[in-house]
Amino acid sequence: MTYDWQELEKTARKWTYEAAKIIKDSFSRPILIESKSNVNDLVTEVDKTIESFFYEKISETYPEHFFLGEEGVAEELSSLEGTVWIIDPIDGTMNFVHQKYNFAISVAIYHEGVGMIGLVYDVMTDELFHATNGNGAYINGEPLVPVKERPLNESIIGVNAKWLVEEKNQYRNPLKALVRDVRSTRSIGSAAIEIAYLAADRLDGYLSVNLSPWDYAAGLVLLNEVGCKASTFHGEPLSLLLPSTFIAGKPHLHKEMVSSYVGEEL
Ligand code: IPD
Ligand code: CA
Ligand code: CA
Ligand code: CA
Repeated sequence: MTYDWQELEKTARKWTYEAAKIIKDSFSRPILIESKSNVNDLVTEVDKTIESFFYEKISETYPEHFFLGEEGVAEELSSLEGTVWIIDPIDGTMNFVHQKYNFAISVAIYHEGVGMIGLVYDVMTDELFHATNGNGAYINGEPLVPVKERPLNESIIGVNAKWLVEEKNQYRNPLKALVRDVRSTRSIGSAAIEIAYLAADRLDGYLSVNLSPWDYAAGLVLLNEVGCKASTFHGEPLSLLLPSTFIAGKPHLHKEMVSSYVGEEL
């Protein structure tokens, strides 16, 4: 079955704006906050509400589609066959809890393993980054231009400083070398926003020692449209079903970061 991807994108966008309203409305009341894998891995009732909101809309409207989301409201997915929605209901939950700012809704649609639609909505700045495969990427409807390269020593990359001081992080030394050699670093705390910023030329690269498919599924569609590259630290293609290391950048920078830094654990 094939779809009118532009129409599907409009539907996804409408639901995303509706979901954003539910998130903003939650600010007026106390919400339940819990920890998942460790005390700093936060999840709230709003994360779960938003994921359920999308799951219900998708199941009602497109019962033949599959669903993958961070909070596990749907059955576990083991294949990318057919049409799959990959959703992070709130990317940047820690920011949502602490800052009430700098968090996004990330919605991707893949068809037979190919990224067709990517939406990253920064809820508080009201910036929607969207792309459909082959039709370019946009920020609030304005086209994003193909990225312009900068040399590594003039580049700004997104990286979380925590990775540099984690004793058990096997990539600590190459990351320190990279951080030393670039012009500067930034850390927003939402992988989806940071990847969208790369697509919008606000960053030159972004990397993380551990990301999951819902963190980058929509971002990959954006990156593809503006000519950026993304892979694991070792330059391998990213899985849409399993977590891994993640590195993205403008093509030359991406290649250099992989081959001269994180591709080799020092
Ligand atoms: C997290 C954010 C954060 C990244 C973490 C992710 P969440 O997503 O994207 O920036 O460093 O690895 O897990 O849990 O807030 O959806
Ligand atoms: Ca989370
Ligand atoms: Ca996330
Ligand atoms: Ca999340």
